[in-house]
Amino acid sequence: MDSIIVTGGQPLSGQISIAGAKNAALALMPVTLLTDEPLTLTNAPRLSDIKTMTLLLESLGTEVTAMQGGKVIALSSHGLTSTRADYDIVRKMRASNLVLGPLLARAHQAVVSLPGGCAIGARPMDIHITALEALGAEIDLRDGYLHAVARGGLRGARVPLRFASVGATENVLMAATLARGTTVIENAAREPEIVDLAQCLRRMGAQIEGEGTSTITIEGVDRLHGATHSVVTDRIELGTYMLAPVIAGGEIELLGGRMDLVAAFAEKLDAAGVSVTETAKGLLVRLRGDRPRAVDVVTEPFPGFPTDLQAQMMAMLCCAEGVSVLEERIFENRFMHAPELMRMGAQIEVHGGTATVTGVERLRGAPVMATDLRASVSLILAGLAAEGETQVNRVYHLDRGYEHVEDKLGAVGARIARVPGS
Ligand code: UD1
Repeated sequence: MDSIIVTGGQPLSGQISIAGAKNAALALMPVTLLTDEPLTLTNAPRLSDIKTMTLLLESLGTEVTAMQGGKVIALSSHGLTSTRADYDIVRKMRASNLVLGPLLARAHQAVVSLPGGCAIGARPMDIHITALEALGAEIDLRDGYLHAVARGGLRGARVPLRFASVGATENVLMAATLARGTTVIENAAREPEIVDLAQCLRRMGAQIEGEGTSTITIEGVDRLHGATHSVVTDRIELGTYMLAPVIAGGEIELLGGRMDLVAAFAEKLDAAGVSVTETAKGLLVRLRGDRPRAVDVVTEPFPGFPTDLQAQMMAMLCCAEGVSVLEERIFENRFMHAPELMRMGAQIEVHGGTATVTGVERLRGAPVMATDLRASVSLILAGLAAEGETQVNRVYHLDRGYEHVEDKLGAVGARIARVPGS
């Protein structure tokens, strides 16, 4: 398995282009299942999770063609051959569950393995199941698979979610576009990726109102047609690279960066003494003083501080002046990066869902282990600030969510290299 070696202490300068959002693309690709006409996605990120979704869709009979090195993905599901999402593919990535809603809507049946993905909590499927049952699906759990049928097709309904789950909102939104009648999703997730999904569906003829708010109304239509859609900017990649010049020193412009995608995060950076300004091409980030200041962080659904930036923020706070408290409210087991950061000299105490970080003047390079996607990149960020060499092992998680991290950071002056594994 590959590892990444970072040698700290280099201030950064230059520009980094931010890719299309992984989490948006993973929801947009299954949209192909809702129509027999072609769907083309532009500004797609080049990531292993996208390859996993490609394999899954191909196993269902979708034709997937990657163009321009993967930046453009053409999908066509005119000849759907299967409605079964097999364990072998689904176990690699939880977002595989996003084929459930579209398959039910188009084929009125689906068999989907229970998902895998990052080991950051239990991540059950109850919200998806209850929501699709409200639309008239019957769903049984047998042998690790969800067996779902919608006899006579899905029917629009009121769908209150017990928690604003991103994946459940996406599954219901897709399913409801072809259901008979009106669906109202209450306590819907408000993430920008949901807005992007709704915009794509609307381009295909879906009737949707209220995306980006807690109530989304969908009027079912008989069929959807083809479309071309550009994937929204990846706010998590954006936030990750915004932290790089704060940790390493210097100034970086994030091309394609948008303040509205990272408002809560940028507010915390401002409180930590970081200047974030909008430019004609994106966002410019630099630290105002010599060292960032401690800030407290609570992760929440959008528009709150994203859980997917918690690990990276912790890496920064490890070097900040003062004591910070991070509270993780979305996933119950998402501090696996803490012991690894401690190997680099960080002072962190974890009690349940709360981590208390006492900033130190300097971290030390050390061999560390990547445990999940965002944890991996937090260790690379910490390495940028550390004295000496940090070797991040088991980086396959990183390639699930970050395009060429070593090239992007290397181009702005970081000393970083990938060491191919055996
Ligand atoms: C999506 C993102 C992920 C992000 C997360 C929260 C994708 C592909 N992934 O994941 O990067 O960290 O949103 O912003 O978009 N839950 C249940 N029952 C369910 C569904 C979820 O209890 O049926 C719980 C989960 O265990 C978790 C919380 O709800 O604790 C949030 O999950 P959810 O919003 O569904 O996240 P995902 O869609 O899986």
